[in-house]
Amino acid sequence: MCGIVGYIGDKNCVPVVIDGLKRLEYRGYDSAGIGMFNNGGISVTKVIGKVENLQQEVKNQGLDSTTGIGHTRWATHGEPNVLNAHPHSNNDGTLIVVHNGIIENYPTLKAGLKKLGYTFKSATDTEVLAHLFDAYLKSGYPFFEAVRRGLKDVEGTYGIAVISTKEPDRIVVAKKGSPLLIGVGEGENFVASDAASIVQHTKKVVYLEDGEMAEVFKDHYHTKTTDDEEVNKEVHQIEMTLEEIDKGGYPTFMLKEIMEQPESLKNSIRGRLLQETGDVKLGGLENVLDHLLYVKRFLIIACGTSWHSALVAKSMFETYLRIPTEVEYASEFRYRNPIVGPGDAAFFISQSGETADTLAALKEAKRLGALCIGVCNVVGSSIARESHSGVYIHAGPEIGVASTKAFTAQLAVFALITILLARRKGMSVEEGQSLVSEFAKIPETVRGILSQNDLIEGIAEKLKNATNFLYLGRGYNFPVALEGALKLKEISYIHAEGYPAAEMKHGPIALVDENMPVVFIAPKDATYDKIISNIQEIKARKGKVIAIATSDDENIDQLADYSIKIPVTRSILMPILTVIPLQLLAYHIAMKKGLNVDQPRNLAKSVTVE
Ligand code: AGP
Ligand code: GLU
Repeated sequence: MCGIVGYIGDKNCVPVVIDGLKRLEYRGYDSAGIGMFNNGGISVTKVIGKVENLQQEVKNQGLDSTTGIGHTRWATHGEPNVLNAHPHSNNDGTLIVVHNGIIENYPTLKAGLKKLGYTFKSATDTEVLAHLFDAYLKSGYPFFEAVRRGLKDVEGTYGIAVISTKEPDRIVVAKKGSPLLIGVGEGENFVASDAASIVQHTKKVVYLEDGEMAEVFKDHYHTKTTDDEEVNKEVHQIEMTLEEIDKGGYPTFMLKEIMEQPESLKNSIRGRLLQETGDVKLGGLENVLDHLLYVKRFLIIACGTSWHSALVAKSMFETYLRIPTEVEYASEFRYRNPIVGPGDAAFFISQSGETADTLAALKEAKRLGALCIGVCNVVGSSIARESHSGVYIHAGPEIGVASTKAFTAQLAVFALITILLARRKGMSVEEGQSLVSEFAKIPETVRGILSQNDLIEGIAEKLKNATNFLYLGRGYNFPVALEGALKLKEISYIHAEGYPAAEMKHGPIALVDENMPVVFIAPKDATYDKIISNIQEIKARKGKVIAIATSDDENIDQLADYSIKIPVTRSILMPILTVIPLQLLAYHIAMKKGLNVDQPRNLAKSVTVE
């Protein structure tokens, strides 16, 4: 799940590759490396940690070349050290490769290559590729063909870029299970694992599909399948602007992304809410609408924060549509021989659209005959392309590793889908109108909640030294409790657990003492009275209560140590509001601990390995 960037043209590749890698750093930051043609050979520079270190190192060496490839790594095989950093080379240093993914049969390949006399420097799976391609090159195949033949021997997943001194006029790339695209320029071309890294140079991209490869020259490119068939690829125009992927004046991407939720939510619902008819329009679902109305069961499959959205969506679907809905972790779904068939519709939620577990689950559900709907943020991503139909959440690029605006946009899209289907299943026009008009107010309501940033920062200051947190909620807000706990864990490294509020007394209450902050999500809804009793139970054990309550709640201030008020809305929309204070709370606690919230340790933005 690393980042790959490459350049071929007349300019110096170094700034192009380094800047591109910086934009991809969120994908992995264990090490970084760059390789380029230099004086008839290839020079490779690798460092531990950030791309910034690489930039300094390359600057010291004064490197300049018109063709190069770079990599930022999220280690899967071999610890994050310089030897294991990419690019990896063949033994005489005339060919290098950068790789995203896992070569599953690398032990067998490695043993075979060792017998042929190849020596290995690293503990990675990737290094076998360099020697494997070399072996085919040395047996007389041209470069592109040598890579193609090598890939036929490989089991596993890869997005790769390769250069060789044998044919220095090209970069060879291939894709299977990890993203890889070509950026088409004028007299220059780019290769990358993610369009964000090259958008400042070109907006024209060619997405490779699994089993496809390309040789990219400075003024043209040629695509084939790894089975040696010619393929003609469509050139896509990407919409993303540079401004959208920069910090826009905020100290961190995470704060920028939290603060831009009024806009991102507007984008998610733009053109989709029909006020007059109390209805919803989702172009991506039009061709499957009838099918969706008659399925027996919904499945929603995702990982992490997207899985929390799935839990909220389940409540929406079951409440309004009365269609049984099961939520699955993508990683579990695939490996437990799931009972799925043509009577099911499966939704796959993924911000990145590249999460390997979710993609694999999608392929499995498709194979079993389910209708597969992708709910993704990244346009043109693998999950979006593999699904039968789908809805983009249009949150804009999310760079901070901790997902924030994508979560609220996912919730908004599932509320849209719910209203769309409910209106066709008997929801009255009046009820549709009431929901739609409440929905339209949500972006501005979120803006109001964000204006309590200083209050929340003050609460964070008081709680920043706690070592454990509990997050409790019920109904629609139980998944929000899980999400609040995940946000805190991810970026502040404080242990936190989310629980259904009433379940607390069946175990976790044993943890509560005067040092335990307990965050209650307690809007005035059907379970309000019960949750107030739960708050009393925590207070009786001297726990510190932080309540997220609605503005019509006059009593909560007497009960809670700290309270954050949010406006009243319909229950189905409430999680979009209740999660906002939890994002800010986690953010400020982590910042006060001096941590890097955009790139928390051990994590990567898109997890493209299983
Ligand atoms: C969210 O804060 C996490 N970093 C992580 O759980 C994430 O939601 C998960 O990896 C799924 O990613 P996706 O939505 O891109 O598929
Ligand atoms: N499996 C390779 C490694 O561990 C690539 C990992 C990645 O995708 O960053 O080096």
